[in-house]
Amino acid sequence: MNITVVGLGYVGAVAVGALSKAGHNVLGVDVDQGKVSSFQKGVCPFYEPELSDIISAGLAAGRLRFLHLDEVKGSLGEIVLVAVGTPTQAYGGTDLSQVYSAIRWIKERNRGRAVVVMKSTVPPGTGLRLMAEELADSQLGYVFNPEFLREGQAVHDWFHPDRIVIGGEDAAATALAKEMYEGIEAPVLVTDVTSAEMIKYTANAFLPTKISFINEIASLCDRVGANVDDVARGVGLDPRIGSSFLQAGLGYGGSCFPKDTRALEFLSAVKGYNCELLRAVINVNNRQRLLPIQVLQEIFESLKGAKIALLGLAFKPNTDDVREAPALDIARLLVELGAEVQAYDPKAMETARPLLPEGIELCNSALDALRGTRAVVLITEWEEFIRLPWEEAAKLMAEPRFVFDGRNALDGRALMSLGFTYRGVGRSGPKWDTP
Ligand code: UDX
Repeated sequence: MNITVVGLGYVGAVAVGALSKAGHNVLGVDVDQGKVSSFQKGVCPFYEPELSDIISAGLAAGRLRFLHLDEVKGSLGEIVLVAVGTPTQAYGGTDLSQVYSAIRWIKERNRGRAVVVMKSTVPPGTGLRLMAEELADSQLGYVFNPEFLREGQAVHDWFHPDRIVIGGEDAAATALAKEMYEGIEAPVLVTDVTSAEMIKYTANAFLPTKISFINEIASLCDRVGANVDDVARGVGLDPRIGSSFLQAGLGYGGSCFPKDTRALEFLSAVKGYNCELLRAVINVNNRQRLLPIQVLQEIFESLKGAKIALLGLAFKPNTDDVREAPALDIARLLVELGAEVQAYDPKAMETARPLLPEGIELCNSALDALRGTRAVVLITEWEEFIRLPWEEAAKLMAEPRFVFDGRNALDGRALMSLGFTYRGVGRSGPKWDTP
C-alpha cells in the first residue's frame, strides 16, 4: 500500500519504520525541517531500540521517504495516518489544533479517495466531530486506530500487538485500515469511532489504576510491616487480577499515562460526572514521587548541603524520554531544599539537561554520580544500575550510605551486607531488617 504518515514524533516515527519494514511504500512528513532532515539521513532524533535500523533499511530499499509538509506534491496514497501531538492545555482540555491542521492539510492535498487513520490520542467524540465538520464534503474516510506502543519496545509492540482496535463508521474504511496490518497476528476489534477512542483512554487509565493501587498497598505494607513484592506476587497469581503493572515504586510518568488520566478526568468533569476513582489514581501518583524527599528528610536533619546522588532521569528504562519523569520533580525539590545533587542516566542526560534546575551536577557514569554522596535515590531501574559494582560504590560513598530504591529493583539484603542503609517502597517486612 502507499501510506503517508503526518507527524514524525514518537508514534509517527515508529509507524513509518514499521510500515516500511512490512513492505508498504511510506512517506513521512512533518512541519519541523530539522526532524525531516535527520530522518532523511536515517538518524532518529530520539532513542528507541531497533527504530533507526528499520528506518535506515526502509530508506535503503527505496520504500521510505521523508519530506517537509510544504514540499509534498501528488497523491498521499490510500492511507494517511495522523500521528500529531495532542498536548494538554493550561485549563485541562486537549489541544487539538495540530489534529485540525493535519486534517485540513490532507483535505487540500488529496484529490481522490483515501482513508485517514487517526493514531493521535483524541478525546472521545472527536472523530465524529471531525467527520461531520471537516470531512463531510470530502472523499476521505476516517477511522480511529489507537496505538498501545510501549516506549523502549515500540517496534516489537507494533509487530506483536495484543490487539488491533479499529473504530470506524464505514466498512470500506475499516477494511482498508485492517489491510495495513496484514501479516500481523492479533485479534482485530472493530467498533464505532467513539468506543475506540474510549478504549484508548480506558486502557491508559486502567493500567495507572493498577500502579496507584499497588503503590497505595505499598504504603500500607510499610505501616504494617509487610513486603509489597510478596503481596503483589500473591495477588497477581490470581488470573482475575494478573501480575503485570503491580510493580510498586515512584509511580508512572511518560507521555501517555499522566496526560491521558488527566484528560479523562477533565472530560468527565465537562460531561458532568465526577470520576472519583480516577482522581484518586492521579493523586496517589503525584504523592508517590515525593516519597524519597520525605524519607531523606527523616534520615538527615537538614538536606542543606547534603550530597545526594540520583540514578536515572528517564521516566523508565530503555528510553531517553523524560516527559513527566519523577526524576525532574525529585531533582527540583532536592535543590530547593539545599541538597547538592549529582545525577546520571545512561541515555537521558541530554533530554533532561534543559529541564533540570541549575546547580545539579550531571556526571559521566553512575559511579561518578555516587562519589562523595551520603545517599542515593534509584529512580529508573536501568539494568546498568541493578548490575552496578555496589561494593565499589560503598567505598565511594560516605556515611550513612543510604540507598532509597525507588523501583524495588535492587537486592536490598546484599546492599545491607555491604554496609548500606537500604529502603525500598513497601519493603518493610522482616526480611528487610538489618541482617
Ligand atoms: C504506556 C502504555 O503501556 C502503552 O500501551 C501506551 O500506548 C503508552 O503508554 P509507556 O508510557 O511507554 O507506555 O510506558 P509503560 O511501560 O506502560 O510504563 C509507564 C509508566 O508506569 C512508567 O513510568 C513505569 O515506570 C510505570 N510503571 C509501570 C510502574 O510504576 N509500575 C508498573 O508495574 C508498571
